[in-house]
Amino acid sequence: MNPKSIIVIFGATGDLAKRKLFPSLYRLYEKGHLNEQFAVVGVARRPLSADEFRNYVRDSVETAFHQKLADGRFTSHFYYHPFDVTEAESYQRLKSLLEQLDGTYKTEGNRIFYLAMAPEFFGTVTSRLQSEGLTETHGFKRLVIEKPFGHDLASAEKLNDEIRRVFSEREIYRIDHYLGKEMVQNIEVIRFSNAIFEPLWNNRFIANIQITSSETLGVEDRGRYYDHSGALRDMVQNHMLQMVALLAMEPPIKLTTDDIRHEKVKVLRALRPIAHDEVDRYFVRGQYGRGVIHGKNVPAYREEPNVDPDSNTETFVAGKLLIDNFRWAGVPFYIRTGKRMAEKSTKIVVQFKDVPMNLYYRTNETIAPNLLVIHIQPDEGITLHLNGKKTGESTTITAPFQLDYCNNCIDGINTPEAYEKLLYDCMRGDATNFTHWDEVAASWQFVDPISEVWANTKASDFPNYAAGSMGPAAADELLKKDGFHWWPIE
Ligand code: BG6
Repeated sequence: MNPKSIIVIFGATGDLAKRKLFPSLYRLYEKGHLNEQFAVVGVARRPLSADEFRNYVRDSVETAFHQKLADGRFTSHFYYHPFDVTEAESYQRLKSLLEQLDGTYKTEGNRIFYLAMAPEFFGTVTSRLQSEGLTETHGFKRLVIEKPFGHDLASAEKLNDEIRRVFSEREIYRIDHYLGKEMVQNIEVIRFSNAIFEPLWNNRFIANIQITSSETLGVEDRGRYYDHSGALRDMVQNHMLQMVALLAMEPPIKLTTDDIRHEKVKVLRALRPIAHDEVDRYFVRGQYGRGVIHGKNVPAYREEPNVDPDSNTETFVAGKLLIDNFRWAGVPFYIRTGKRMAEKSTKIVVQFKDVPMNLYYRTNETIAPNLLVIHIQPDEGITLHLNGKKTGESTTITAPFQLDYCNNCIDGINTPEAYEKLLYDCMRGDATNFTHWDEVAASWQFVDPISEVWANTKASDFPNYAAGSMGPAAADELLKKDGFHWWPIE
């Protein structure tokens, strides 16, 4: 059944709404996943008329899909409400608008409040929504909240307390857009629907797991936010740890939201805490200097707009995580992520342990370990690296070969954008691919000691990697100490 609802987007003139939310809503509409019983109310400070806002939405969709909208059917569902976050009257007027639209679109009182705005307003907005009566409705009320969800455990707890006064945990949809990516969702399916992987998915057969999420972009126009955040908070606390949780979790009893989240939380709680004096042993930070990306010279991080010229903020993180439970004891999970790296790519490599002995050593043959590579983006698929006989040679000569499955190579399949899936899930009331508070709390708990040490010690070697490289040398050392190396990104 198609969901019926009014979606109120706070921060409707911002970047996220324009680049992701409007185009995603359009795709859902085009596919017939939204029936006509929906309306979107854009809320922002800027004074705009409904028509101006509809043009803005149309522009964003046309830019995203490089095509003209044939008519105004889609944009006719959009309304605009100029708004001051702190002013009671703004909320009152919004309330009347919602009541009126509820009648027009027969949305049965269902309301989604999407906070795509600066996080310092999250608390104020939610408490005002309640005090001005916008959350009193005969339908459902849901809150969608973008990151950052706090900047450490204490601030996340404070924020959570504020929003939980108004919305119950079940009504809160904390976005981690990685959970909307096709191949991130596929991790669970690959693991739990194939008899050949799950029996090997443990410390008896797996040597290590590597997760890399590299970007070629720098901080662009987000220096103000990023210089206070850094890669650890921006990528590791959320996206990277979520991928670790999906790779390491036990099979859920059933595929329900609660069962899956429960298993993920258990992984995050089993992460071995890193004490302050151990941070340097397990984690590496980096900051990019000048360099060349795709043949173009790019500036150093410290030269980017709105970045402190003496900034101590990391734009790269590599780390070794250990999960202290029966399945994973002794298996390192290596993660690395950074800006201005050689390539835009997110990939997971599961390295299996070597065969018990090498029968081919007399002919100087080394046998490469088996690898299962999960390509998250831009390629989507899996590759299994195996060894076989070198064709035409004697059976003592081996050669590596690969079994490839490419998800986004199949003709006609256009992988849905993460936001498209997440918006639809939220409208249908499925919170599985959103982060539960317990996951957020456990992730901050893990990350906090690392960011405390880094905030209190100046990195004397920054910048320590050139834009266009794969990060500082220390990130390679991290694996070398254990006898491993990062598998190439190709
Ligand atoms: C966001 C971060 O959460 O994820 C950005 O704030 C980062 O800094 C982005 O660029 C990466 O997402 P994706 O989908 O491009 O890998």
